[in-house]
Amino acid sequence: MNFQLTIEPINNIQSDLQIVLVAQKDLEHTFVQDKELLKKAGFKGGQDETALFLERDRLYVGVEKITADNLRTATATAMRTLVSTSYNHVSIASYLDETKSADMIRAMVEGFELGAYRFEKYKSDKRSNPVTDITISLEEYHGEILDIEACAHALHLGQITSEATNFTRDIVNTTPDDCYPDVMAHIAKDLAEEYDLHCKILKGNEIRKEKMGALLAVARASRHRPRVIHLAHKPKNPKAVISLVGKGLTYDSGGLSLKPSDFMVTMKADKSGGSAVLGIMKAVAQMNLPVEVHGFVGAVENMIGGDAYKPDDVLISKSGKTIEVRNTDAEGRLVLADVLAYAQQEVKADYLFDFATLTGACVVGVGNYTSGVMGNCDTPKNLVTEAAQCSGELVTKLDFNRYLKKTLKSEIADICNISNTRYGGAITASMFLAEFIDEDHRDKWAHIDIAGPAFVEHVWGENPHGASGAGVRLMLRLLENLSK
Ligand code: BES
Ligand code: ZN
Ligand code: ZN
Repeated sequence: MNFQLTIEPINNIQSDLQIVLVAQKDLEHTFVQDKELLKKAGFKGGQDETALFLERDRLYVGVEKITADNLRTATATAMRTLVSTSYNHVSIASYLDETKSADMIRAMVEGFELGAYRFEKYKSDKRSNPVTDITISLEEYHGEILDIEACAHALHLGQITSEATNFTRDIVNTTPDDCYPDVMAHIAKDLAEEYDLHCKILKGNEIRKEKMGALLAVARASRHRPRVIHLAHKPKNPKAVISLVGKGLTYDSGGLSLKPSDFMVTMKADKSGGSAVLGIMKAVAQMNLPVEVHGFVGAVENMIGGDAYKPDDVLISKSGKTIEVRNTDAEGRLVLADVLAYAQQEVKADYLFDFATLTGACVVGVGNYTSGVMGNCDTPKNLVTEAAQCSGELVTKLDFNRYLKKTLKSEIADICNISNTRYGGAITASMFLAEFIDEDHRDKWAHIDIAGPAFVEHVWGENPHGASGAGVRLMLRLLENLSK
């Protein structure tokens, strides 16, 4: 998609269609050209409400209040509305406020790119979005003076972050037969080549040498061998060193603690955390952020078979801690335990974040739209909640407590992979991970459970059906904040 910024007034731009965002309170305003028509069409100006007037080549989208989040979903809605039309070049005015004009431009661009996304790999009749060109008019609005350079930079960042999100969506949406651990490793290698990242892939022997007994147990019954991916962006004199770890379960059948059929569908999305890490690394390189970023992915498939790991097994993790397995469907934490240990061994980071579709309990607790943020210390958790504010992603903190910690006790090993209570599952899973965080990283680590927003069954906001790319825009904001 090509974007162009211009200071030409919106009505002077030659385009196929004009998109007009209109707030409820402005419906009666003189600058709304099609007031009567809108009234006839029953348009009330509610958020993301649309009215397409083909004879005028104008599309109205309601915006409750001019905020970055509302502009993002409005432009995404516009793109979805135009999908069955043949409009190629659209124009739109800028909707800015004094302080945040750059943020508004970025949100609009993100909405266009994210709303136009379609996953068509498996469709015979491919219908990509018709819109190829978007012109944004920076006509002085309410007499404000705009920093055009800042707007152009925001546009550029918006393109990078949304393209990275769509890149992650493509990986997650790809079926388990087409995207297995070695395929993820190849995606990482290709990224490294294209964007000049450091790349190391650990295969069988290297993984065994690293003594990742927990990860290897999860992987055992699959015909697809596991991979541990390490990508790195290393600028000179970095302002901070950050490690990211992603759960890359290319399929989670539950293993011998097999998932019921209805719960197994969509488990191709259990690689969302790892796929987010790949998308983030791509954007970090494109933005050339002045922070050192390491991306680790544990790419594994959790299957059944004669060689499957079992409830009752005791695993020796990389850290040396032994783990009693009582449920093979709590596999993500086993993979993460080893990859977190590996990441901490390889890199002494200022911050360590992991992303995982870790628990159904997180979805039950905070809903489909929000990620849960957990950890020992408020500092890294606050970085995440602050970054979320303008990223378009929703997050909420879930606190640890000492009573839940006790529920992970094992009679025969150092720890059990599930808790002995069925409540508080998002927190107990995270408290399990905390056992594999070393003293140096104790207060530098936060875990982000993206099980809710990672996969979308009913379109919401800027997200189409399927993978949302959760975690990508959130972490890019955080890394940008650390780059300032
Ligand atoms: N991948 C699932 C978690 C999940 C559930 C992600 C729904 C997205 C949507 C994870 O591996 C899992 O199965 N967790 C179990 C843990 C339980 C056995 C303690 C769960 O949440 O039921
Ligand atoms: Zn599972
Ligand atoms: Zn899982």
